Amino acid sequence: MNRLSVELPGLHLKNPIMPASGCFGFGQEYGKMYDLSLLGAIMIKATTLEPRLGNPTPRVAETPSGMLNAIGLQNPGLAGVMENELPWLEQFDVPIIANVAGTETADYVEVAKVISTAPNVQALELNISCPNVKEGGITFGTDPLIAEELTAAVKAVSKVPVYVKLSPNVTDVKEIALAVERGGADGITMINTLLGMRLDEKTGKPIIANVTGGLSGPAVKPVALKMIYEVSQTVDIPIIGMGGIMNVQDVIDFLSAGASAVAVGTANFVNPFVCPTIIEELPGKLDELGVEHISELVGRSYRS
Ligand SMILES: Cc1cc2nc3c(=O)[nH]c(=O)nc-3n(C[C@H](O)[C@H](O)[C@H](O)COP(=O)(O)O)c2cc1C
Repeated sequence: MNRLSVELPGLHLKNPIMPASGCFGFGQEYGKMYDLSLLGAIMIKATTLEPRLGNPTPRVAETPSGMLNAIGLQNPGLAGVMENELPWLEQFDVPIIANVAGTETADYVEVAKVISTAPNVQALELNISCPNVKEGGITFGTDPLIAEELTAAVKAVSKVPVYVKLSPNVTDVKEIALAVERGGADGITMINTLLGMRLDEKTGKPIIANVTGGLSGPAVKPVALKMIYEVSQTVDIPIIGMGGIMNVQDVIDFLSAGASAVAVGTANFVNPFVCPTIIEELPGKLDELGVEHISELVGRSYRS
């Protein structure tokens, strides 16, 4: 019996560990370091309709227990991902979760329609934290009605299950979770980065050219756990959790909070072998905790 296997809509995972979107590119660099078939899945970098160069530099900065980034969704665009990145990933026995982004609903719909036909894409992850130009600067991820409508529009065209990635930059994340569930989401991924900034000690000016950036890493873990704890008791769809996972104990914490699987982001920049290391250590951790299968841990923080 595989003690680490996880069944989720569209996804048969050999283990619950996957790299988070934007922290693994399209796998090419990591593929030179280890066999990507070891992973439960891969969440690839956001794909937009057109290629994007991203924001001006500097666009990353270190902070205590975390980092700030404002990459700006740099990617080769839908055609580039379909022609080069996804076919290259086909050599590995690993499900791909394609992260979809856009400026307006029509962009998301077009990317989702095409990318969901790729043979190795088994689910979509909608990145709803981008500014919605048409709605006058409101972001898809902070308005429940807009989040619900976007989810429904993408569901209508997608050939594979749709997971929606929630932003933590809201007053009540449960409201958005319920909205995307109403829109037909098959699952939720959470959390994306928290907005933050860092100032240059000498000039007092923001270090990141974009002024603000997204905070990730161990600093955000308590926020992620609290939000997953709340959302998993509010909706009936599964959660893939992320936000500051650095080691095997962090994985156990996210499952206990209510996630069914997890993604590892910033930790890949600290140690590129973090995902295979965690996968190797998980069975020993299950022995220590006295559980036969990893699913027994899901939601134990609130189960009687
Ligand atoms: C450099 C960088 C780039 C990212 N790019 C994306 C992206 O393209 N799409 C997305 O949905 N999330 C993106 N994220 C957010 C991560 O996938 C993840 O949700 C977040 O960093 C929290 O996890 P962590 O603390 O383990 O990094 C990015 C994060 C970082 C640090």
